[in-house]
Amino acid sequence: MKKKVIVANRLEQEALDELKKHADVSCFYNIISTENEEFVKKLKEAEGIIGLGLNVDKQLLDLAPNLKIVSNVSVGYNNLDVEELTKRNIMATNTPDILTDTVADTMFGLLLATARRIPELDQYVKERKWKGDLTAEFYGVDVHHKTLGIIGMGRIGQAIAHRAHHGFHMDILYHSRTKKQEVEEKYNATYKNLENLLAESDYVLLITPLTKETRGMIGAREFSLMKETAIFINGSRGQTIVEKDLISALRSNEIAAAGLDVFEVEPIQPDNPLLDMPNVVTLPHIGSSTYETELAMSKLACKNLLAGLNGNKPPTLINEKVWKNK
Ligand code: NAP
Ligand code: GLV
Repeated sequence: MKKKVIVANRLEQEALDELKKHADVSCFYNIISTENEEFVKKLKEAEGIIGLGLNVDKQLLDLAPNLKIVSNVSVGYNNLDVEELTKRNIMATNTPDILTDTVADTMFGLLLATARRIPELDQYVKERKWKGDLTAEFYGVDVHHKTLGIIGMGRIGQAIAHRAHHGFHMDILYHSRTKKQEVEEKYNATYKNLENLLAESDYVLLITPLTKETRGMIGAREFSLMKETAIFINGSRGQTIVEKDLISALRSNEIAAAGLDVFEVEPIQPDNPLLDMPNVVTLPHIGSSTYETELAMSKLACKNLLAGLNGNKPPTLINEKVWKNK
């Protein structure tokens, strides 16, 4: 008999079609909690959940007594209570590596768009306002040869450093939990404590996971340490910063601009003041979303799911302990 599986919110069609050949699949879209009765009914029987955009916490797990694996279609897994999953011997998987270059491209695009005011000027042209030579009020700032401070020098941070160093001849400062000799040599990067990185960077780019330690790590104090000309880019999660403090820092010209792919509440609320700031460039949490990469992520997530359901070790298992306990 095919194993019962829930697809929650996201899985590319091609991967879904393939998954249906191997599992008894129930799909739920736009589901963010366990309020949906049909979803709760299916949860009782499900051995696997794939996709997500859903918090997997004690409350959900109590409704899913047969669950063996949760397969996130994302590298970040702050939506998963990994400790609780591990306690219950439920495997958790994510999709690292295959999205690294795509996310780095998006982050660099966001940085360039913010520095050179691309969305704002695009709008200006399309509104038929371009009538003659432009003066300084339309200028952006250079990216090349400036100093980029990367907070979170992991897979994506390093791919950003690669672009910054080789493509834009930027000086690279970084901050992470550990110092990285190889990265320093490859990209001529310098390790800084957080305070010094903030004070010395022209661009501050945040790309850490959301954890207990990183929640709210960039707030009023951190924005006040940045240069008045600094441009802040957030690609990690909305909750790694204190969004109201970013708004204040932008309003009081403590920093110059921001490029944001992630927000405290997603989708962003219509009354969020960030939406009315011309010096803020926004994206709808789309770092990894190219056709190629979304499909690759969906396929890897299916591979993880099916491996787990069939008693094999999923290729990108998060909680190794569950496997060791088998
Ligand atoms: P990764 O390889 O695990 O890298 C994470 C980096 O963050 C590591 O360098 C780690 O330091 C550092 N870090 C962790 N906790 C820290 C702390 N308390 N202080 C300072 N640095 C800390 O992960 P990745 O694949 O690069 O992905 C990073 C994150 O990007 C994901 O978790 C996700 O939240 C976000 N992301 C967003 C999008 C998007 O669409 N916007 C797409 C993909 C990923 P050490 O190396 O010293 O351990
Ligand atoms: C996207 O945000 C991811 O973590 O993959």
